[in-house]
Parts: sequence; structure tokens; C-alpha cells
Amino acid sequence: MKIAVIYGGTSSEREVSLSTGKGVMEALERKGHEVVGVDFDPENLNEIIKLNVDLVFIGLHGKYGEDGRIQGLLDILKIPYVGSGVMASSIAMDKARAKVLFKNAGIRTAEGCSVRKGQSYQSSPFGYPVVIKPNSEGSTIGLTIAENDEQFQKGIQTALKYDETALIETFIDGKELTVSVLGKGEEIKALPVVEIVPKNKFYDYEAKYAPGMSTHYVPARIQDDVTKKLQKWSVLAHRQLGCETYSRVDFILPNDGSEPVILEVNTLPGMTPTSLFPDAANAVGISYDDMIEQLVNLTVQ
Ligand code: DAL
Ligand code: MG
Repeated sequence: MKIAVIYGGTSSEREVSLSTGKGVMEALERKGHEVVGVDFDPENLNEIIKLNVDLVFIGLHGKYGEDGRIQGLLDILKIPYVGSGVMASSIAMDKARAKVLFKNAGIRTAEGCSVRKGQSYQSSPFGYPVVIKPNSEGSTIGLTIAENDEQFQKGIQTALKYDETALIETFIDGKELTVSVLGKGEEIKALPVVEIVPKNKFYDYEAKYAPGMSTHYVPARIQDDVTKKLQKWSVLAHRQLGCETYSRVDFILPNDGSEPVILEVNTLPGMTPTSLFPDAANAVGISYDDMIEQLVNLTVQ
């Protein structure tokens, strides 16, 4: 098949996307496809049309890539692509709106609220510590864990540098867990739960992408009933947003023994050498190359 891999782009997750794109391209080449790499910028939209490919693999993360915009463009151009469509992508990218849908589905979310640019904010409505993040970013970019009013105010300013809206959520002390979801129609399944233990205090950008800065336990060291719940909720969250083919659903399991809390659904999960989705696939005997090929096959079948 002739496949274009779109990577890079202009979002703040550009570097991550370069790594995802490289991994995906190499895998597709090893599988015998004719692969064309496109470092995405608005100038080369024409190029994508002229390529005349059978399929696009979107290796982008964040703004324009993960938020439904490129998906809309490809829909208009009638070029099939791997992964979720416009609506699921844009809702998943909007953490505050996605939370409303998770809550409606009965999935536990962290208590939270939003602050828009221009609104006044002095202190956390939820006490401290509290998490502040741009509403529509990935990879923990622009995220602050504030312990007091001063850090809170600075945290909001930081988040609003990246986005029109900042999301404020109660900080939950617990295990970082993630569940990869794969499949189509009625055949959607959750892969084993991955537990992440970062070397840093939090699973921040460095812990995510610098080799050796976090350890992944697959399967997670949690009780069977919690695993079942996480897998059930992941598929539910994926369906609730209308995701397609694959996604990765992030959770915190509170140390106080209460129910897991959903953080977000990633519609274009990282596929870098330190990423979680490939680790989960590996745990069920699916190699990186086979996983990428499966995503292609699920799209064209
Ligand atoms: N946003 C990054 C790429 C992830 O969730 O894997
Ligand atoms: Mg994310």
C-alpha cells in the first residue's frame, strides 16, 4: 500500500511526534509498504493531495493533529486515515468537555473546573495540592502541581500560555495507570493495564520521553477487580467519545483505596520507543511492527 505518515507539525508536542513518525515509518517500511513521510505544515497541504496515497497514518500529537482538524481536512479530501474521526478527536482533546461525557457514562473523574483567559483567579477552589493544566495539551506540557496561592496563580498563567482555557483539578495521590484500546465495532478490546513508575516525582515530560526515566509494569501491580474495572471503563470511554481503531486511556488509582479516576483519552497515543501503547501490545505478543500493521488493517478492512 502507498501510505503517507504525517508527523512533526507545529504543536508543542512536535518533538514527540517526530519520534512517533520515525517509528511508524520504519515499521511500515519493514512491512513492505511504500511510505512517504510528510512533516506537516500548512504550506504542504497541496503536497498531501498530490501524493495520491491509499492511506494516511497520522503520527501527529496535539494541536491540528490530534484535535480533529487534520482529520476534517482528510475527510474533505476523501483520503482514509488511521484512528478517530473529527468529533471524537476534538472532544478528547478538550479535557473539560470530555469529562462531562465520562461522568455521564458513570466513569469517575476528578473534581475540577475551568478558568478562561481574562477571568480572575486568586486561589484554588479545591484547596491544595491542585493540578493546573492547559485544557487541550498533551505530554504534561504546561502542567503545574500547586501547593499554595502563589504557585496556583503562576500555574494558571503558565497553562494559559498554551491554551485559552486552563483546567484545574484536585490532585490525587496514587498510581499512574494507562489502558490501550484496540479494535473496531463490537470487537474493541482493552490491552493489559500498564503501571508507570516515574523516576521524577511526577510522570512529567522528562519521565515520559527520556529513556530510563520511568519504569512500566505490564500488567500493572493491582488487584484483578481493579484491572477489570479499568479495562471496562477504557472501552466505555473510547466508545463514549466515539473513538475509532485505537486510543489510550489514562487513569490514577488513588492511594486511599477508592475507585480509579479517569484523566483523559488520547486519540493519537505516542508510538515512541518509550511509549506505553507499544508496551501494552508487546505484553500480549504483538510486536511494534505487527501493531502498526494491525492499525492499518483495521482501517482498510
Ligand atoms: N500525548 C502523548 C503523545 C501521549 O499521550 O502518548
Ligand atoms: Mg495526553
